[in-house]
Amino acid sequence: MALKRKSKQFKWHRKHLLGLRELSAEEITYILDTAEGFQQISTRSVKKAPPLRGRVVVNLFFEDSTRTRNSFALAASRLSADVIEFTKKASSVSKGETLLDTAKNLEAMGIDIVVVRHNAGGASRFLSRSINACVINAGDGFCEHPTQALLDVYTIRKLKGTLKGLKIAIVGDIAHSRVARSDMWAMTKLGAEVIFVGPPTLMPGQVEQLPVTVSYSLDEVIEKVDVINMLRIQFERLGGNPFPSVREYSHYFGLTVERMKKAKPDILVMHPGPINRGLEMESEVADGSNSVILEQVKNGLAVRMAVLFLVNQAAAQKG
Ligand code: CP
Repeated sequence: MALKRKSKQFKWHRKHLLGLRELSAEEITYILDTAEGFQQISTRSVKKAPPLRGRVVVNLFFEDSTRTRNSFALAASRLSADVIEFTKKASSVSKGETLLDTAKNLEAMGIDIVVVRHNAGGASRFLSRSINACVINAGDGFCEHPTQALLDVYTIRKLKGTLKGLKIAIVGDIAHSRVARSDMWAMTKLGAEVIFVGPPTLMPGQVEQLPVTVSYSLDEVIEKVDVINMLRIQFERLGGNPFPSVREYSHYFGLTVERMKKAKPDILVMHPGPINRGLEMESEVADGSNSVILEQVKNGLAVRMAVLFLVNQAAAQKG
């Protein structure tokens, strides 16, 4: 496999990917470089490579997902792994079985890599200390969603060349967003300036201790930024009323066609999905020429192939 930019000196050693806070810029760059090598597999007539042949990957999803779960399933399949799909609704969790017992029972069947999404922050870290298989965090509570952020920075690097010196706005429900946290770590480590934008009620506690600046006005920020990442309002996690009405939120923080007139012509418009159309952004913007939302999804496949490949390689080296 040809890896164009990969540092020859660097050796990946992590058998788990739990978050980006603990990764160095060099490690993040190494994953992106490895993903570049995998991108071209999707252009072949036979879209398969053998590195995970004989390995078993389980998608252990305790929350719903369209993009992450299917992307990991396809990534594992492209690397020739066997894939087990676990969903909470169709499992013995409904009979009271715990996360740990579920994982240990699957491990007894001989799984090698667990991709876990859970509404409890720290679930993937807990599993990594409790089972022998590699663990990849596919989203834990409000904490981290590392592969989403990796595909976000991969997309930005591909389209802008570098993240160094870019201004990136992350807009909306920051408080409940694991994407915002992982993006913040990845983007700032790679040299971008990150601005959290949203109403005070949707900012995380102790935001002043994070490596970001904060703005409560999208209108003040929109003309300055190179990239804008619009977050989903996580209605299922809100618990109260953080804004008076959906209409008011959309008026102040929605990415509208009118607001886009003030943006740089080459601004990248991103969204991790799923989109609440008409709330976070108007459909004309989501589907417009600056939108890279489907490019993000496409790049997620190569990024997840890279992560599966690297954790498996590290586990094999540890023996
Ligand atoms: N971006 C993201 O995590 O989407 P899904 O919830 O569909 O996986």
